[in-house]
Amino acid sequence: MSEAVITARISELAAHEGQSVTLKGWLYNLRASGKLLFPIFRDGTGTIQGIVPKAAVPEELFETLKTLTLESSLEVTGKVRADARAPSGFELDVEGLKVIQRVPDETPFPIQLKEAGVDFLMEHRHLWIRTPRQSAILRVRATIMRAAAQYFDDNGFVRTDPPILTPNACEGTSELFEMDYFDDDKAYLTQSGQLYIEATALALGKVYSFGPTFRAEKSKTRRHLTEFWMVEPELAFATLDDLLVLAENYLSFIVAAVLEKHQADLKVIGKDVSKLETIKAPFPRLSYDDAHKMLVEAHAKGLVETLHKDGDDFGSPDETYISNQFDRPVMVHRYPSAMKAFYMQPDPEDPTKALCVDVLAPEGYGEIIGGSQRVDDYDLLKSRIEHHGLPLDAFQWYLDLRKYGSVPHGGFGMGIERVVAWICGLDHVRETIPFARTLNRIYP
Ligand code: 4AD
Ligand code: MG
Repeated sequence: MSEAVITARISELAAHEGQSVTLKGWLYNLRASGKLLFPIFRDGTGTIQGIVPKAAVPEELFETLKTLTLESSLEVTGKVRADARAPSGFELDVEGLKVIQRVPDETPFPIQLKEAGVDFLMEHRHLWIRTPRQSAILRVRATIMRAAAQYFDDNGFVRTDPPILTPNACEGTSELFEMDYFDDDKAYLTQSGQLYIEATALALGKVYSFGPTFRAEKSKTRRHLTEFWMVEPELAFATLDDLLVLAENYLSFIVAAVLEKHQADLKVIGKDVSKLETIKAPFPRLSYDDAHKMLVEAHAKGLVETLHKDGDDFGSPDETYISNQFDRPVMVHRYPSAMKAFYMQPDPEDPTKALCVDVLAPEGYGEIIGGSQRVDDYDLLKSRIEHHGLPLDAFQWYLDLRKYGSVPHGGFGMGIERVVAWICGLDHVRETIPFARTLNRIYP
């Protein structure tokens, strides 16, 4: 090895063309063809193929690499050479190799490059995340999370963290994880920070929260986790229209951040980026009533199987049909109050409807954002709490917010995993988070 070798990461190799660099990583794949070896190295930022002609390297290096087991950790030195055919744009002419830990022959890396069943992969999730597609998804997720916070940080919102242990429900009692809280008390894992950030919004004007939320979802769907990350803005002096404008600008910003940084990752993942390039505000707005009419007509033409009933929520095939009519997210507003949460403000023009919005992602990904204007009148909120059979005691503090300088206010919640699934084009949210928690999985 030459004296002044630079240590680099695979994602930075463009800056080192023609130089010798040392990469620290793992052996991802190895192909041999006569007197030539083609190892593929990975380091967490990407992969690069090495070229190792027997004649060009010390015999010991050649023999060590030839029998090296997959996922052995190593440091490899080589000259960076541009190659237009390579996924990273570069290849490495290997000059030196130091094995750090050789995976024993008796216990080969269990994730083979050929496809394994999803149960096997989830059982080995701690290793599955090393494979290029899963790593690419996690990198995109990190950018989505950063952009999700940055938009609010840059636009005058204060991040306020609601508690994770809570004394009562926010989104309905059936999905609560319950735990003992000392002596005689119970605590519940939060389903949403909303009620608390309504309080911080009335203190600070514009706020957001960003953290894990929990729902004891009994449903086994492609969209439901029991633990997921939600980002929630809440604004004092805001109406439903303000929320719609915020949501479309917010999602456009997040998609742009991913497109700017992750062209290579999206390619590895297999996402058609042209579907993301159209995601720019403004987004279409569709009332619940118009969505219902659209579904009735679609049913008449045989385009959706079951006839949507006025007043019912949309099923997954309904949401897919609606979202497929648009090339960007569609904002469905003013659902019937009866099917929505107790805290949603009724529409003054039709009090049977709530001033709420669900943002449905394109390509059948369904709801990614849910939000509303909140009830701001003390008496109305009190009667709605009672009507929903919720304990008034537990909500006294929340009612206080309507006693001391109440204002029209509202916000929404966006589920990070749903957004990652949509942006990456994944079939299931279990691949959007390092370790998914679902009805039937809490290992590893
Ligand atoms: O529509 P939801 O239930 O709304 C609320 O929790 C409001 N309190 C938010 C607010 O107004 N501040 O949930 C918001 C979003 C959904 O649109 C979805 O993206 C995500 O959270 N979500 C889930 N994601 C994964 N797994 C689950 N089980 C989810 N439940 C909701
Ligand atoms: Mg919802």
